[in-house]
Amino acid sequence: MPNISTPISIGKMELPHRYYFAPAGTLTATVNGEVTERATANIETIARGMSGGLVTWALWYINRLGRAFTSLFSIENDDYTRGMGNAIERIHLAGAKVAPMIFHGGSLCKGSTTGTGYSVSSSNMASFFDPNTEIRELSEKEIKDVIGQYAAAAFRCKQADSDAIYLHACHGSLIQQFHSPFLNKRKDKWGKNPTLFGKEVIAEIKSRVGSDFPLIMRVSIDEFMPGGVGYGTDYGVDVLAPEYVSAGIDALCVSAGRLGLESGERTVPSIYRPYGVNLDLAARVKEKIKGISDIPVMHAGKFFDHKLSEKVVSDGTVDMVGLCRPIIADPDVVKKRLLGMFEEERKCICCNMCTTTIGLLEHGASKCAVNSKYCREIENRDLPVSTKKKVMVIGGGAAGMEAARILGIRGHKVTLFEKQSKLGGLAEIAASIPKLNTSSIRNIVKYLSRQMEKLGIDVQVNTEVTKTMMDDFIKNKTFDAIIVATGSTPEIPEIKGIRKDIVVIYDEYLKNPKMDLGKSVAVIGAQEGAEIAASLAKEGKTVYLIDETNSIAESPYLSDWLRKIVLMGYLNVENIIRHPETKVAEIMDDGIKIVTNDGNVINIPVDKVIMAYGRVKENTLYEYLRHTFPSIYLVGDARVPHSIGEAIHAAGWAARDI
Ligand SMILES: Cc1cc2nc3c(=O)[nH]c(=O)nc-3n(C[C@H](O)[C@H](O)[C@H](O)COP(=O)(O)O)c2cc1C
Ligand code: SF4
Repeated sequence: MPNISTPISIGKMELPHRYYFAPAGTLTATVNGEVTERATANIETIARGMSGGLVTWALWYINRLGRAFTSLFSIENDDYTRGMGNAIERIHLAGAKVAPMIFHGGSLCKGSTTGTGYSVSSSNMASFFDPNTEIRELSEKEIKDVIGQYAAAAFRCKQADSDAIYLHACHGSLIQQFHSPFLNKRKDKWGKNPTLFGKEVIAEIKSRVGSDFPLIMRVSIDEFMPGGVGYGTDYGVDVLAPEYVSAGIDALCVSAGRLGLESGERTVPSIYRPYGVNLDLAARVKEKIKGISDIPVMHAGKFFDHKLSEKVVSDGTVDMVGLCRPIIADPDVVKKRLLGMFEEERKCICCNMCTTTIGLLEHGASKCAVNSKYCREIENRDLPVSTKKKVMVIGGGAAGMEAARILGIRGHKVTLFEKQSKLGGLAEIAASIPKLNTSSIRNIVKYLSRQMEKLGIDVQVNTEVTKTMMDDFIKNKTFDAIIVATGSTPEIPEIKGIRKDIVVIYDEYLKNPKMDLGKSVAVIGAQEGAEIAASLAKEGKTVYLIDETNSIAESPYLSDWLRKIVLMGYLNVENIIRHPETKVAEIMDDGIKIVTNDGNVINIPVDKVIMAYGRVKENTLYEYLRHTFPSIYLVGDARVPHSIGEAIHAAGWAARDI
């Protein structure tokens, strides 16, 4: 039996091991789809860490009518071949192989991104994304034209020296719009035979690039939505997979879900999901196609752990394991895993900042919470310093440790002060929600703590920095620069009875989650309190979720809409009783008194009250020094309570500025 390090071939493309970089759209092209220096530096960095393996490279639109976002790459005409080729040269120099992913978004595209005001699809339909975009059914002639555009794009990829073509037939794009019963309402042959379009695309590509040029197809085998492919049926496994395999592809990549709808959470699984969440689907496909062909079955989806990746290849469940977010978080992860340097891996925390930042917002290149260099490889280099400085970092949470790490790499002498007995700060707390799986967040605490040791950072735990200490340091010129990463504290509102024993501050609960909360709990604050409420409900408690606003789960760290989709499901249970637009008038020894928006006063008996009102920045030391000490930086929650990603990015900027 093979293992993850065993070589494998996709058609004539030989690969030295079975990991591949699963595609990640970055939005790093120009608005006209040209490859930028930023994009090249990003893909070259990824290629460098692949130990000669396969980089699949997203996302190349084949025609302007298929452009789902601005700043995707274009391969719509010959003018774009050279840009792709120049970048591929860098990928090859780094020793990796590359398969550009070619794409037509169909009805995923807005009229503003296609530039025509309309987009096209298998059938007429309403747009999910933009009510002003008309979606037109492709005519017979237009279908033929689009098939030709796929083939022409594939041919340009080959001319640009790519090693394979990666065909996007997943996540709701045009090919999926044809084979999805949810969207294909045609009565002609393209409707009666839903895989015909995809198969014609395969045939036309093969005829343009040659039958021996490797073609990988990525298919959402299950759309995980009512009316969609596979939902509650075996259609994806029994029909899609065998038909496309029989059509002559060289590898089948099993994916799931579709963009923009709830099932997008199956495409990019959220933090709560287990590792390898869609593996069962891939296993069924592998089993199904066994009699037809022995082409490799590829699969990605939370392989955050080498052991699982090794297992699924060794036991023959799949042939190749894709890593997307693990590589975004640490571009050297494949190299590290194959060398057995597991402790060195900077593991993804599954926060989906990388996804949310590209999402529908389109406000810049994709961003990774734990890897501030991602898509910023040029500007965020950790250059060695010519003048070594003594730098004080106050606070040992994610921001403080990241600042210390980069300062240490650059050659500064760093002392980090943490008032608690251990490092981790709020990240450690956020990773500790008892019945929700948020433990991935702990990955960054572990990684950074280890880096503190490795880099020989002078870490002083159990040391609260006071104003007097600061006065001494400044008088004695102990430090040349200071980074303040003192974090945030829970906001405690002025409510009558707030100091009573029945009240538990949510940080305290998460530090001590085994504490007895009784059978019924009021959670005050539906933003920071949303996950706690869901967790308590899973324990079988009756939960009263109270908030002054009508919103829920709107904390900045929950801007990951994929995580929020799942969370909203957890919150939509009978034992969570929501009280929106409601104030807490008083906390008694045995319950709370609330006042609804229309003035109704209600007494609710509860065993405990959890205060999850929000967070307040803790920046006292910074305010004390900002006008007297010139080289001082404020980062993380101490600047504005937000997410781990924002904290790490601000810390990185400061540490590179010193
Ligand atoms: C930021 C981001 C962008 C992605 N862009 C694409 C894409 O353009 N095409 C695609 O097929 N999949 C895309 N994916 C899905 C990934 O290839 C992968 O299937 C998914 O993230 C699950 O793998 P992971 O758990 O290793 O991240 C993207 C995922 C992320 C996180
Ligand atoms: S942004 Fe978050 S989810 Fe995305 S790769 Fe980085 S750590 Fe992982």
